[in-house]
Amino acid sequence: MKFVSNIHSCNVIELTKIHNPAGNITIVQNGENEFFNTKRVYYLYDVPGGSERGGHAHKGLYQLIIAASGSFDVIIDDGRNKKIVHLNRPYYGLYIVPGIWREIVNFSSGAICLVLASEKYSESDYIREYTDFKNYVNSSPNG
Ligand code: TYD
Repeated sequence: MKFVSNIHSCNVIELTKIHNPAGNITIVQNGENEFFNTKRVYYLYDVPGGSERGGHAHKGLYQLIIAASGSFDVIIDDGRNKKIVHLNRPYYGLYIVPGIWREIVNFSSGAICLVLASEKYSESDYIREYTDFKNYVNSSPNG
């Protein structure tokens, strides 16, 4: 099934936060949120200044992107519209639906980009060339 998506389906979600003077806890638990059940967690770290990550879309993967430490910008693009989301708190997550081109830029020093994903890694789920992404979007029923 092909997912017809747009950036307005990608929202910043405030996650559960337990305040504690000795340090806070944020929880994302399967079955207790509206997005997806997590099958994979990965994180980007030691990102050199000026690096850009992402630069691809997924055909079926849902993700929640969290700035677990530091900050960065996520540029999301549905082939028609783009927006830049600045993430700088560990209790906010950017929910990304399938069919969205994303780039992650402006990493602060020491930033950790934590990603919760709905599926295990599959290279065949990636669209890695922007021209292929545009063709994919334009060949959709509503494209
Ligand atoms: P990629 O998703 O392209 O990185 P980014 O979008 O953050 O720049 O992944 C980079 C490499 O890591 C690529 O060779 C695939 C590999 N990889 C895995 O093996 N498993 C994973 O879960 C992820 C996210 C990447």
